Amino acid sequence: MNAVTLNTLSKIYTGGKKAVDSVTLSLSQGEVFGFLGPNGAGKTTTVKLLNGMLSPTEGALSVFGIDPSQNPEKVHALAGVVTEHAQMYDNLTGIQNLVFYGSVFGLSKTDSEKYGLELLRQLELTDAKDKKLAAYSTGMRQRLSLARALIHRPQILFLDEPTSGLDPESAQNVHSMIRRLAAENGITVFLCTHQLRYAQEVCTRYGLMAQGRLLAEGTLDALRCRICSGMTMKLKAKNLPADLVCQQTDDLTFKLPINSEEEIPQFVRKITDAGGQIYHISAELPSLEDIYFTLTESFKSPEADKEA
Ligand SMILES: Nc1ncnc2c1ncn2[C@@H]1O[C@H](COP(=O)(O)OP(=O)(O)OP(=O)(O)O)[C@@H](O)[C@H]1O
Ligand SMILES: [Mg+2]
Repeated sequence: MNAVTLNTLSKIYTGGKKAVDSVTLSLSQGEVFGFLGPNGAGKTTTVKLLNGMLSPTEGALSVFGIDPSQNPEKVHALAGVVTEHAQMYDNLTGIQNLVFYGSVFGLSKTDSEKYGLELLRQLELTDAKDKKLAAYSTGMRQRLSLARALIHRPQILFLDEPTSGLDPESAQNVHSMIRRLAAENGITVFLCTHQLRYAQEVCTRYGLMAQGRLLAEGTLDALRCRICSGMTMKLKAKNLPADLVCQQTDDLTFKLPINSEEEIPQFVRKITDAGGQIYHISAELPSLEDIYFTLTESFKSPEADKEA
C-alpha cells in the first residue's frame, strides 16, 4: 500500500486562490520525499490537506489508505506533524509537554516519559528537559516539536520547514535523525524545505511545486535527465587558449559543459599544448539546487506562461 496518494488534488481557498492545482503523486513506505518550491507554491496547503486540516476542492487523497478529509483522527494516529508554528504549552516543561501529547495518543505516563527522554537525548535537549517551554529558544522549540511529533511512534512524518530557525549544527542533527528514522524504522517522511543542500543529502525522491502545480518529480538522477544537462567541468587555470568556449566565474575559475569525464584528458592536452596552466580540475553533475533553478526559471519564462 502507498504511504501517500494524491489524485488530481486541488484546493481553492475562499476568495478564489488556487493553492494546489490538480496534483497527482504517490509515496511508497520508507521514502524521504522532499517537497520543494518557492514561497506560495502550495506546499503547506498540501500538508494541511494530508492532515485533514483542510478539505480538498477537487480530487482525492489518502494516507495509508485513509482519507484524511473523512477520517482525520485515524490519520493523526499514524502521522506526526511538524509545522512552523507548533502548538505546545509554554507553562509546561519539555518533558511534561511530551508526556501530555503521549497521553493524547493513549500512551501511559511511564511509556511516554521513557520514550520522551530518549527523543530529548537524540535531539540534544536533555539539559532543557525540566525547563518551561516559555524559556526555550526558537530552535529548541522547533526540536521539541519534532520530539512531540514522534512521541506516538508514527508511521509517517509530515515536516513543514522543520529546520527553519535552527543553527547549522542543530539542522544537521535533525537531518541525520530524519535519515535514521527512515532507514532504521521504515518511517515515511514528507519534507517541505527550502534548504536544498540538506534535501539533497537526506531525500530519496523529490517533488517540485510552483504556483500550485507539480512541475517535476523523481529521484535526483531522474531530475538530472529531465533538465537534459550533463556534467560541468570546473577549471582553475591561467592563460587558457582563446578558442576554448567556456564561462569565466572568477579570476582563475572557468566552467564548461562536457558529456562525460572521458572528455577531460583532451581538454587538458589542448590547454597545456597552448601554454595554459591548470591548478585544479573537477567534473560535477547538476546539484538539486541547479535543477531547482532550471525548472523554476523555465516555469517563470514567458514561453511557460503561454503554455500554462
Ligand atoms: N488561508 C488561506 N486563505 C487564502 N489563501 C491562502 C491561505 N493560505 C495560503 N494561501 C495562499 O495559497 C498559496 C499557497 O500557500 P502555501 O502556504 O501552501 O505555500 P508554501 O509553498 O507553503 O509557501 P512557503 O514556502 O512560503 O511556506 C499562496 O498564494 C498563499 O497566499
Ligand atoms: Mg509553507
